Amino acid sequence: MAKPSGPQGEESAIARHVALIMDGNGRWAKRRGFPRTFGHRAGVTALKRTVEAAPTLGIEWLTVFGFSTENWSRPPAEVAELMSLLKHYVDSDLERLEREGVRVHVIGRREGLSADILEVIERAESRTRANDRFHLQVAFNYGGRADIADAARRYARALAAGEISDEGDPEAAFSGFLSTAEAPPVDLIVRTSGERRLSNFLLWEAAYAELVFQDVLWPDYGAEPLRAAVEEFKARERRYGRAEADDVLAAG
Ligand code: IPE
Ligand code: IPE
Ligand code: MG
Repeated sequence: MAKPSGPQGEESAIARHVALIMDGNGRWAKRRGFPRTFGHRAGVTALKRTVEAAPTLGIEWLTVFGFSTENWSRPPAEVAELMSLLKHYVDSDLERLEREGVRVHVIGRREGLSADILEVIERAESRTRANDRFHLQVAFNYGGRADIADAARRYARALAAGEISDEGDPEAAFSGFLSTAEAPPVDLIVRTSGERRLSNFLLWEAAYAELVFQDVLWPDYGAEPLRAAVEEFKARERRYGRAEADDVLAAG
């Protein structure tokens, strides 16, 4: 169950859980006169660099947005390429992830994914299940609204079946049905490519996450921009809605 993103730990010392909106593959390719799919392939290389760098920066959980529920509306050839890249990533990197103690989690709707993609996802999760040195959570066919709606449905069914009670902290009870339930609170959400929106990523989980927007296009990402994002996070003050009592007399 997710810990509520509560008032504990206001100091932003460590970005334990970082979430990345990997954006800008298409523009990166276009600037080079290549088709968008070329950018997605370069994006996989950037993902590998970033996953290697993350634990060296104190990050324990990295969630990456690989394919949104809205990305189905892209041209069919591009959708097919994004699907095959997930397979390529797992085929080429699973052994290393397994060896290096990385546990892979995949969040998002499984319905609508083809049998070979489901096989790849299940293989990645089951082969790394015993690992806990670092957690890589891949959001694939993921949408924040879909995730909340699906959780609401599961919550209602569990309630109707008498499996849970409707007493206690409703936020804690509900968040246990989200696909991110196993992960710690999201500390930092980074979006690359200069766009400043969430595009339906981690809507519930973003409540008290710090947001950092970087101009770098995703295929150029890696250790250095990630370090810069974590540095910016460290300079932030997380308040969780609180304020210190006025201290006017002492100040005068
Ligand atoms: C992000 O790059 C990759 C995915 C959405 C999977 P884009 O493909 O969105 O690249 P831009 O935003 O068009 O440049
Ligand atoms: C968000 O990027 C999805 C992923 C990074 C997988 P998009 O490029 O799809 O988002 P919009 O369309 O610019 O909002
Ligand atoms: Mg984009």
